[in-house]
Amino acid sequence: MSHNTFGHLFRVTTWGESHGPALGCVVDGCPPGLSFTLEDIQSFLDKRKPGQSRFVTQRREADEVKVLSGFMPQPDGKTYISTGTPISLLIENTDQRSKDYGEIAQQYRPGHADYAYDAKYGIRDYRGGGRSSARETAARVAAGALARLVIPQVKIRGALVQIGKHKIDRSRFDWAEVDNNPFFCPDAGTVPVWEAYLDDIRKAGSSVGAVVEVVAEGVPAGLGAPLYSKLDQDITSLLMSINAVKGVEIGNGFEAAEITGEENADEMRIGPDGQPQFLSNNAGGILGGISTGQPIVARFAVKPTSSILTPRRSIDATGHEVDVRTKGRHDPCVGIRAVPVGEAMLACAIADHFLRDRGQTGRLR
Ligand SMILES: Cc1cc2nc3c(=O)[nH]c(=O)nc-3n(C[C@H](O)[C@H](O)[C@H](O)COP(=O)(O)O)c2cc1C
Repeated sequence: MSHNTFGHLFRVTTWGESHGPALGCVVDGCPPGLSFTLEDIQSFLDKRKPGQSRFVTQRREADEVKVLSGFMPQPDGKTYISTGTPISLLIENTDQRSKDYGEIAQQYRPGHADYAYDAKYGIRDYRGGGRSSARETAARVAAGALARLVIPQVKIRGALVQIGKHKIDRSRFDWAEVDNNPFFCPDAGTVPVWEAYLDDIRKAGSSVGAVVEVVAEGVPAGLGAPLYSKLDQDITSLLMSINAVKGVEIGNGFEAAEITGEENADEMRIGPDGQPQFLSNNAGGILGGISTGQPIVARFAVKPTSSILTPRRSIDATGHEVDVRTKGRHDPCVGIRAVPVGEAMLACAIADHFLRDRGQTGRLR
């Protein structure tokens, strides 16, 4: 019961710590015959990689992925074909600075996992938080790249839609803008606002929360289950499993509680192609736990990084009251690097349900 594995047919186990020699994952259940290159995985890891702008942690990690098993190399020397056996992916840690964490070896950082880890295990890797470090999410991103291969017809994208109280202007939402700025922001007009705001936060050694939106388009109708493995339930569970995530919503989410049935129900018509057409997407592409064919839309709230320079009151492992000031390198807004992680979790959830649906119904959707 150690809970390092998720998924049923597309089954991912991650391993490794922040300051160990390496971390990675084993993906079991990847169908045979999928063609991929290292670049197909690396391109997503590069989006999550630290040190890419002044707004993220300055830890320098190449995050170069190695594929150790589960494939047949092809004569071109670049292409790998999955064999249906476990695919093992490895990413080395190359920029650990364990001395940065000396002072907090005994102290519990408020807002971090230190106290809870000690309470549960009685021992913890304080160097970077060990397994509670979001460095583990690199392995999930690598797994997500494989998940995308299982569902090539599905387009999965993510964006940061809010930092602190500063929300994007939805009327200017443009996916093409997401890769043009260091925030994965889909609204060019909001970028300078976030830059100025986050510069102040960063210089003050403080941190701030954020909201990430992830969207999957091209998901066929019929994936999921009505009750105990609802598609929204499984997506929500994986998004909630990301470090620092404190809230998840599907479609209009909490807003649904504020509106009437007339406003909320997504009306239907027959579209020009003779196919069912929804006139809105408050449901976020899922009804009764099953995909409708509409885009799946999920948002998650990420809390402010707990590691901040301002001293905070806490206790240590020997029962003394202390003031904790967290040095070392940290993200002033972890929401930024959570964007590719959210995309990966959405990809894994949908790939798993895609395979499960095929197993149960025998249908090729
Ligand atoms: C991409 C990413 C990067 C993170 N970087 C940091 C960091 O630099 N410092 C920190 O204190 N927490 C960071 N976190 C958050 C912690 O990992 C998280 O707060 C901690 O594991 C406790 O878990 P919880 O917040 O889910 O309760 C990061 C989270 C994500 C998703």
